[in-house]
Amino acid sequence: MSTIDSIDKNKLPNHMAVIMDGNGRWAKQHGKMRVFGHENGVKTVRDTVESCVQIGISFLTLYTFSTENWKRPKFEVDTLMRLLVSSLKKELVTFMDNNIRLNTIGNIDSLPKKANRELQEVMAKTSGNTGMTLTLALSYGAREELKNAVQAISAKVKNNIISIENIDETIINNHLYTHNLPDVDLLIRTSGEHRISNFLLWQIAYAELYFTDVLWPDFNEEHLVKAILNYQNRERRFGKTSEQLT
Ligand code: IPE
Ligand code: IPE
Ligand code: MG
Repeated sequence: MSTIDSIDKNKLPNHMAVIMDGNGRWAKQHGKMRVFGHENGVKTVRDTVESCVQIGISFLTLYTFSTENWKRPKFEVDTLMRLLVSSLKKELVTFMDNNIRLNTIGNIDSLPKKANRELQEVMAKTSGNTGMTLTLALSYGAREELKNAVQAISAKVKNNIISIENIDETIINNHLYTHNLPDVDLLIRTSGEHRISNFLLWQIAYAELYFTDVLWPDFNEEHLVKAILNYQNRERRFGKTSEQLT
């Protein structure tokens, strides 16, 4: 069994991102409605967050609701929003106890008022925490994020705040939702799907990708440790040759 102790603390992914997928299929396997899967997925979120704190991860970003997920049946969307509010209420104490700062990326204004208000409150209350930054991607779409960045930069060019020649990767980065986050080092997707589904397209340019067949509600600390150990055995070359790295 892989335990947290087997992880090399000097080679941790600084920023870990997770596409938490498979709640619906998990529920179906148990002969229940899809929302039962989401309810159980919340428990996995809680456990994963606590394990990441224990491991010493600095940035954890969770794909919680995509811009495309608005197309799901109203009952499912409503349940997801209700679960978000109740979890935030319940977990504030966990965030404080573990020195976690809550952050969000996405079109937060499009969320129901209640969810928006709860998020603002928890973010304000945890803003002084200095441990792990937990980012929830909510109503998040990477293409929308890039479109917004292009619009914001274009407006600055039009108003002579930025000149076209000066647009570089740093300026683009500074106009993304993730301007205060480092690049992703490790991206995990559960449930056996091998796709990105409009998540952090710019930020995963050099991330290590890890896919597991485990459905999100079944994903536990052992699976998490396995993913991190797998990451630690990879050689990240960033375009260089292997010889250049030593
Ligand atoms: C992930 O599980 C949760 C969200 C996308 C909100 P799914 O609900 O996508 O589960 P599957 O993929 O249908 O099994
Ligand atoms: C991606 O999962 C979004 C989240 C995990 C929040 P989906 O289940 O929505 O992705 P697709 O539609 O299968 O690509
Ligand atoms: Mg899915």
